[in-house]
Order: sequence, then structure tokens, then C-alpha cells
Amino acid sequence: MEHLLKLLDCSQEEILSVLELADQLKYERKHHIPHPLLAGKSIGLIFQKSSTRTRVSFETGMFQLGGQALFLSSRDLQIGRGEPVQDTARVLSRYLDGIMIRTFEQKEVEDLARYGSIPVINGLTDFCHPCQVLADLMTIREKYGVLKGLKLCYIGDGNNMANSLIVGGLKTEMKVSVATPEGYRPAKEVLDFAAGFDTFTLTDDPMKAAENADIVITDTWASMGQEAEKEVRMKAFQGYQVNDELMAAAKPGAMVQHCLPAYRGQEITEKVFEAHAAEIFEEAENRLHAQKAVMVLLMKK
Ligand code: CP
Ligand code: NVA
Repeated sequence: MEHLLKLLDCSQEEILSVLELADQLKYERKHHIPHPLLAGKSIGLIFQKSSTRTRVSFETGMFQLGGQALFLSSRDLQIGRGEPVQDTARVLSRYLDGIMIRTFEQKEVEDLARYGSIPVINGLTDFCHPCQVLADLMTIREKYGVLKGLKLCYIGDGNNMANSLIVGGLKTEMKVSVATPEGYRPAKEVLDFAAGFDTFTLTDDPMKAAENADIVITDTWASMGQEAEKEVRMKAFQGYQVNDELMAAAKPGAMVQHCLPAYRGQEITEKVFEAHAAEIFEEAENRLHAQKAVMVLLMKK
């Protein structure tokens, strides 16, 4: 693995190797075993959108690995004033050992990797959220011991999370069912990939998608950058809430995951969220371990 731009680029072996190392790093941290695997290395964290989890887990994760993380807000970088990504990439490659970027267009992330000469990690684009889904897979595997054969159900907006969950789930041999309203389907590129799997289903019926699911996942109905569409979206997603009725269709004891931030009363009820808070916050914690694994695998040369 040279970069982490999207899970579509990753093999099953690469995904599983991240999860293995993440488990090991989590164990070591729990037992106070230091792991300065990236001593002397620097990563730049470029943010064009807000973040709590991604920023804090990358910054503190890099510190725990013995390296340094630089928070680079696009408000302050010249990239925010129009310096081309090709130039930014070539300059940063001379100072840093890796770049994480959170932005709008997937193309910007791909360009950074193309023009730069250091590993690039996608910290969320409108298209996908691979770091989050690696943490989700880690959390699911912690609970069930396996991924293969489990049924993962995603309800709601066919957004960045849906796109990455479909690819990550199918690549790790899970069954993936997705329910979105007609006009809010996952990306075509992802649906083309999923078309090769008889373990994938897409419907507009949330109850059908949730049937017998081992894991139920949802995400906000209005992602960052879609604030102006909020009202229209709130209407479009009525009936796509993760609530008691939907959970009753899933397997008894099914797990709930949410990348956060969560909007109670919209995509998930307060009751379901709080009943599954332990596994949702474990998922949030696992961002730290999964991303440390990604940084080590990409940057420890
Ligand atoms: N889930 C996630 O990526 O959270 P942040 O937006 O807070 O980084
Ligand atoms: N789909 C959400 C995820 C936030 C972590 C967004 O893009 O805003």
C-alpha cells in the first residue's frame, strides 16, 4: 500500500493487515507498552472541513508513535488562496513524511498523491471515508471475532460513509444491504463494484435491508457541505431512521455503529443511540488505533 485514497484501491489482505496491526497497537497502548515506530517522522494534516475525531486521533496517534503531526487548516494554507494542489504536494513532500487530507473533492486527494512523493491518507472526502470504515471493521471484528459472513446493513444517505462501508464490507466478505431513498443512492463507481457480488443488496425499503442484520449503521442526513439542502433532505429521509422498530427487524443483539457526529431524532433515535453507546464510542476510539496502523504501514519505510 502506497497511499490510502479509497478502499476501492485496497486488497482484502491490505485491509486485514491494517486491522491486525490496529489490534496490536490497541493492546500495546492498553498495557502501556511504548511503540515509537515513527520516531522522527512528520505528518501534515490538511483540513478543509471541520473535525473532532479525525484531527485529535491523528494528532495524538502520531505523538504516541514518536512522531509529529502538523495541523494545517486550509484557511491558513496558501492552498486556501488558490495555490494549486500540484505545487502544494511537491512542496510538502520535501518537508513531511506523510499527508492526511480532509476535503470535498476526491480528485484533490488523488492529485495530492499523484504530484507528491510521500504517502497520502484520505481523512474524508465527499466520496469516501476509508479511515472511518477501517475503524468500523475493527470494531465489528472485536465484537464478533470475524467479518466474513456477517450481514452489515446501512440505512440512510448514500454518502461517503455508505460508499466506504459497501466496499469495505464486501472486500472483507460480509453481506452488505443498503437502504437509501431513490435520489440518494451510493456513488456509481461503488455500485459498479458491488454489482460483482451476490452478497450485495440495494433497496429503498429500510425494514427489508435490516432483516437479520448483525450490524446496523447509519450517518447524518446532511453531510458537511450540504447545509443548504438540509430542509429538503430532512423530508427525503423520513422513514429512514434507525429506531426500535428497525432494530426489531435486525438480529437480536445486533450491533449499531455511527461514525459521529450523530443527530438524535433524525437518523437515529436517542434510545437506540444510548442503548448502543458503548459500541459507538468504542468505534470512535478505534479511529485512533486504526489510523496509527495506517500511518505505520504507509510511513515506516
Ligand atoms: N467520524 C469523523 O470523521 O468525525 P470527525 O468529523 O469529528 O473527524
Ligand atoms: N457523512 C458525514 C461524515 C462525517 C464524519 C460528512 O461527510 O459530513
